[in-house]
Amino acid sequence: MNSAVFIFFDRQGLINMKYYFAPMEGITLYPLRNVHHEIFGGIDKYYTPFLTAHHNMHFKKREKRDVMPEFIKGFEDYGNEIVPQIMSNRVDTFVWAAKEMWNLGYNEVNLNLGCPAATVTNSHKGSGLLTDTEYLDSMLDGIFEDLGNKSISIKTRLGFSDESEADRLMEIYAKYPISELTIHARVREDFYKGEPRIDAFKRAVEVYRNAGGKADIVYNGDINSIDDLKKIESFDSIGSSISCTSVMIGRGLLSNPALARQLQGGKPLEAGELREYLKRLYEEYSLFIPEDRNVIFKMLEHWAFLHVHFKDNEKYLKAIRKSRSKGEYMAAVNNIFASCEFI
Ligand SMILES: Cc1cc2nc3c(=O)[nH]c(=O)nc-3n(C[C@H](O)[C@H](O)[C@H](O)COP(=O)(O)O)c2cc1C
Repeated sequence: MNSAVFIFFDRQGLINMKYYFAPMEGITLYPLRNVHHEIFGGIDKYYTPFLTAHHNMHFKKREKRDVMPEFIKGFEDYGNEIVPQIMSNRVDTFVWAAKEMWNLGYNEVNLNLGCPAATVTNSHKGSGLLTDTEYLDSMLDGIFEDLGNKSISIKTRLGFSDESEADRLMEIYAKYPISELTIHARVREDFYKGEPRIDAFKRAVEVYRNAGGKADIVYNGDINSIDDLKKIESFDSIGSSISCTSVMIGRGLLSNPALARQLQGGKPLEAGELREYLKRLYEEYSLFIPEDRNVIFKMLEHWAFLHVHFKDNEKYLKAIRKSRSKGEYMAAVNNIFASCEFI
């Protein structure tokens, strides 16, 4: 009983671990998911950025487009690895949105209980729901009453202001047949800053298990390397039958799209494949964004993470940022690859 193993290492790194691409608003849209899947793979699930389930039972057109199977290349092959995430604070809108997703062919739907943005929390959505545990409990009760036989996962934080809030939250989650529970190891007031609260995460899992929670637990927060995964390894011997065999990664995959492969013992990111990834992303964005300048803006969101692979990149990165046309952008990208050491 006292030697529950969270994750398993061998000489290569980690085995038997699942890797999920975290939802990231405006970024992990279908062009990125498709291109990442095509070039790197190694991901067990891709989460969509949240889709808001509006009170009038409609999605915004651009949100709906992100989950339409016709835009998802190879939907037949990897559609069951895509998980739409829903933002809602009501039973009826969540149930409606989840049914829409099942009608489109998805297997699992995720409820967002983690978003820290004030615009979201002020309307009691995302992590704003963590402050009213009585309401949260009643909302989950209504959702699982209606959809109890479907795969509904949850992405949460440890609390709103304080990690001690996790105890009550975990007791509530343990009451429902959640398919998977992802815990971002921070509270809302941390936003995405500071060290993840690993000890509080560990405690939360223990409380969840002790309360009878059966869902697989997914760890989320600042996984960028094998060493980061090893920090989670210290969860061995927790004293109850817990296990954590999945991690959700966001920023780490944006900086290093080959990270999941590497964590599985594969080769590190190569310059050639990064080039192809950037080229394919540009092509995919161009299909629905008409103006070069706006496609370049999308690409700059990726460069904000990817520039770390180029040594002494300042002047070359500046040229990418200043580019206004496809020609200028491509020339600046060629230059950074030709002039900077790839690291
Ligand atoms: C720009 C940005 C957008 C995000 N959008 C979402 C979202 O739509 N839904 C969600 O649950 N989390 C969202 N997150 C949180 C991430 O899914 C993830 O929990 C967070 O980045 C921590 O994981 P990481 O350290 O691996 O990046 C977002 C984070 C960032 C930085």
